[in-house]
Amino acid sequence: MAEPILLDGRATSDIIKTELAETVEKIKQGGGKVPHLAAILVGADGASQTYVNAKVKACHKVGFASTLVQLDAAVSEAELLQEIEKLNRDPQINGFIVQLPLPPHIDEQKVTLAVSPAKDVDGFHPENVGRMALGLDAYLPATPNGILELLKRYHIDTEGKNCVVMGRSHIVGSPMSILLSKNTNPGNCTVTLVHSRTKNVKEITAAADILVVAIGRPEFVTADMVKEGAVVVDVGIHRVADKSKKSGFRLLGDVKFDEVAPKCTHITPVPGGVGPMTIASLLMNTLKTVSHS
Ligand code: GUN
Repeated sequence: MAEPILLDGRATSDIIKTELAETVEKIKQGGGKVPHLAAILVGADGASQTYVNAKVKACHKVGFASTLVQLDAAVSEAELLQEIEKLNRDPQINGFIVQLPLPPHIDEQKVTLAVSPAKDVDGFHPENVGRMALGLDAYLPATPNGILELLKRYHIDTEGKNCVVMGRSHIVGSPMSILLSKNTNPGNCTVTLVHSRTKNVKEITAAADILVVAIGRPEFVTADMVKEGAVVVDVGIHRVADKSKKSGFRLLGDVKFDEVAPKCTHITPVPGGVGPMTIASLLMNTLKTVSHS
């Protein structure tokens, strides 16, 4: 088997950012307002902080305005809902996100419902989820949409393919299964969604032409679960202790890369695969807020 082609999310997201920066320049030259993204971060979870900082940095890179609202981990649900309402009403803010997960005393569903659908660039509000499911214009969730963009830019043929999505989260697995089944390109897949209660997982995944893994379990997918010639997209990202690294940790995906990669035609690396595409996709949604306003 030939070497697999790496689906390079970092390089692809850099190309998208360059395109976005050119669009921002045109907006500025035309005297228009550049998009302004706000992010609410509750608490000091290391991974969430890293992600939010990366989102803010990406805004600067393409010329968007950005605002980071940092709230204490002990903030009450009512106070958080007030902050959301402020952003909903602020005419300067085109779109915003509330970084998940939230501390356990806050009801994530209430928070999701509180974000104005018109500013919901995460695409998590039921109005956007419903519009996505119906194939109407909507803010699409960043990770699944970033994966579609990556497949598109690598000209992966998805039509009629058996696609298995592992994981049924509201953020990744569930919307990914819906989007890949649509009559679109990429899309038109025959989609199977497997989850923690699925029987015969291995038989199902081993029949996948395209396997999207978003289960949050380090190196769960092994070579015996993957078909020869498959396209594998790994959404997982886990820090595991590694004394040989300066940082003290290394990053692993949900897929055992070293043994799975030789069976694939294409595979995403971790890091540098899906993660940067999620950010690029959020930026694309944020640009969309100005064409809607
Ligand atoms: N936590 C993990 N992924 C995401 C995401 O796409 N958006 C937000 N807001 N939080 C997340």
